[in-house]
Amino acid sequence: MLAEAVRPYLVQPGDPVREVFECEFFARLIPTWLAESGGSAMLDLGCADGLAGWLAGPLLGRYVGVDLDPGDVPGGALRHDLRQGLGPVGAAPYDLYLGTFGMASHLAPRELERLLGDIARHARPGSVVALEALGLNSLEWPRLWHTKPGAARLIPYRLGADVTVHPWAPRELAARYESAGIRVLRAIDRTVQGAPKTGEPRYWAGLPRIRSGVAALLRGERSHPALADLSAPLPALPPAAPAAVHRRIAARRRRVVACSDCLPQELARRVWSLDGRGSGGYGHGLVMVGRVR
Ligand SMILES: C[S@@+](CC[C@H](N)C(=O)[O-])C[C@H]1O[C@@H](n2cnc3c(N)ncnc32)[C@H](O)[C@@H]1O
Repeated sequence: MLAEAVRPYLVQPGDPVREVFECEFFARLIPTWLAESGGSAMLDLGCADGLAGWLAGPLLGRYVGVDLDPGDVPGGALRHDLRQGLGPVGAAPYDLYLGTFGMASHLAPRELERLLGDIARHARPGSVVALEALGLNSLEWPRLWHTKPGAARLIPYRLGADVTVHPWAPRELAARYESAGIRVLRAIDRTVQGAPKTGEPRYWAGLPRIRSGVAALLRGERSHPALADLSAPLPALPPAAPAAVHRRIAARRRRVVACSDCLPQELARRVWSLDGRGSGGYGHGLVMVGRVR
């Protein structure tokens, strides 16, 4: 059962956007969450190869990772399916309960609610919880923007094979934190423009491949076909608030790309900086940060 569940997570090709911008995002924030917690013990939920431990920096003391199939994590990690709850993570509370790269969306709503309840009971008052879900209002899946949480929102998501994911809007996720006894501090959008599935026709046809364009720039390329997508207009979208947000960013991106004569890597960074510091669930990732009561 566990072996079957891990198969889709095994193949993860190299990705310069992840290696540069997305790692920078977590390398900037994980240390601030540890500092906010007032401690140094971190539980990394869905730890994969323990990347979050590396990104935590010198504030990190005790580190425990949990995964269906942990990779080569220094010091080892627990093999456990978080759909069954928090699992055998030891009696001592952690200062930071972390889940990166959309981890919370890999659980069904009931499973996530159970996990949040388990975390709140296991933690000490004041522990910080920072779990990232996939953002409901991402440009990747306009056909989900109007859906309610639950079965209508479950979509296949290609990793090594299809897994099922459930994106969240900030207020929905915040309500689940509060019900579990975790006071919401803030929401943070990640990867608004370069969301990996933007342009996949099974979610919405005709969207530009922005991530591929940014990746080409990061590799120093100036003539990759996806570079044209950085200036491409967005197709017709459902008449909802996220459409206006994504169109505004696309217009700014067009201007940045049109007047830039800088090096490709610098242009990639200028485009990426248009993501800003939003909290509306417009990104591929939506981190909900809270504090256990
Ligand atoms: C959601 S991402 C998290 C990525 C990871 N934090 C990183 O830094 O690269 C995928 C990871 O979550 C793990 N995962 C997915 N569903 C899980 C579950 N139900 N229980 C435990 N781990 C799970 C996968 O095995 C995979 O390693």
